[in-house]
Amino acid sequence: MDNLVIGIDVGTHKVCTVVAQVRPDSVFVIGAGVEGTRGMKAGLVTDLEALTKSISSSVYKAEQASGYVIKRAFVSISGAHVHSDNSRGAVGISGPRGVTPDDVERAMENARAIAIPHSREILHVVPRHYVLDGQSRVRQPVGMFGFRLEVEANIVTAATPSVNNIEQAVEGAGVLVDRFIVSPLASGDAVLTDEEREAGVVLIDLGAGTTDLAIFIEGAVWHTAVVGIAGDLISSDISHWLQVSTELAELVKLQRGHCVPKRVSELETFLVEPFGEGLPIETKRRELAEVIEARTEEIFEKCRDEIKRSGYDGLLRAGAVLTGGTSQLPGIEELAKQMLGIPIRLARPERLTGLGDMLKAPAYSTSIGLLRLGLQLDAVQAAATSTPTPTPNGKWGARVRGLLKRLLPDAEE
Ligand SMILES: Nc1ncnc2c1ncn2[C@@H]1O[C@H](COP(=O)(O)OP(=O)(O)OP(=O)(O)O)[C@@H](O)[C@H]1O
Ligand SMILES: [Mg+2]
Repeated sequence: MDNLVIGIDVGTHKVCTVVAQVRPDSVFVIGAGVEGTRGMKAGLVTDLEALTKSISSSVYKAEQASGYVIKRAFVSISGAHVHSDNSRGAVGISGPRGVTPDDVERAMENARAIAIPHSREILHVVPRHYVLDGQSRVRQPVGMFGFRLEVEANIVTAATPSVNNIEQAVEGAGVLVDRFIVSPLASGDAVLTDEEREAGVVLIDLGAGTTDLAIFIEGAVWHTAVVGIAGDLISSDISHWLQVSTELAELVKLQRGHCVPKRVSELETFLVEPFGEGLPIETKRRELAEVIEARTEEIFEKCRDEIKRSGYDGLLRAGAVLTGGTSQLPGIEELAKQMLGIPIRLARPERLTGLGDMLKAPAYSTSIGLLRLGLQLDAVQAAATSTPTPTPNGKWGARVRGLLKRLLPDAEE
């Protein structure tokens, strides 16, 4: 089947495997399998065997639902070890046909050659824009004439041991990793509009163990980062405060949670039974909201610090787009607006057909984004590594332009 793609989002809370067909305007879901994650904390593997079992089970469910045997997949990666840096690469242009895909690839290779510690590896080299003979902000140089091409690229790196651990777990489940994709880029692909990417936007995926950020400006990724706290820590705070198990604290959060105390009536109460007490205790919902507010504020403070550190804080005209399971916390839009001081939109994957209804929730943004982005990255790589055969009407150039346009959706023709 054409464009059949498989993505596995290995999250701290759940592993989600999706088998789908990527179509121009939608993702047609053929089958999916979701399994609660064991063996991960804050995006890092803590128990390889348990994680392998969770992935196996998610893959098995997706195989049952889709009728396909899963052999390879695009796999998400997250964790506070994920960073990005901007880098420049330059090459001379000597061919008679202007800039070729090969020149672009050589420039990207040069940008890639930045010094990174041996314990880290490069996951993505994303072109931000090109400079051709001093003319900056060129979005698509293939076919243009000039003598010197420079690329400004965003280089996303991750700690090698963390990448290897996830790879080991996925391969232990019998699946080859086609490509790793960092979670915020995948989520961004699933939920951002071209207009937001163009205007300047920060994608914030609030999950269980990590809060993933990606800044898009002028249609391209300019910065990627992961904050190592999210919804799990909110539940853990509730568990300490109420003296209850984390499972019960999680339930209390889902059923009674709010992160803006003033929006909760002072009179509203609920019953919980703490450890060691024989009887349920009446608890004020507003006090619960205060506990949740404190930690959620801390998460947004860390996001604000990260946005400031990127240096692009003044360029986010489209504000922030929130997704991920924790973005469903009541009041989060108001708190985020207050903390970040920019417009806020809550988002989830749209344009899903087939069996996609259950995946139309913010927790599945990464799972869905992996599919289209994985295909696009593969296509761009294939275009860059095959030998161009120019035709008189320049079909090759048009094809590469098309592929790059999909990677950088608003690249100019
Ligand atoms: N309605 C809700 N209100 C508050 N929190 C919620 C709600 N629904 C889900 N969550 C929280 O969302 C988190 C799970 O989100 P998600 O599925 O996006 O995480 P994940 O992708 O598995 O983890 P990560 O990306 O952090 O590795 C859990 O902490 C859960 O408690
Ligand atoms: Mg996630």
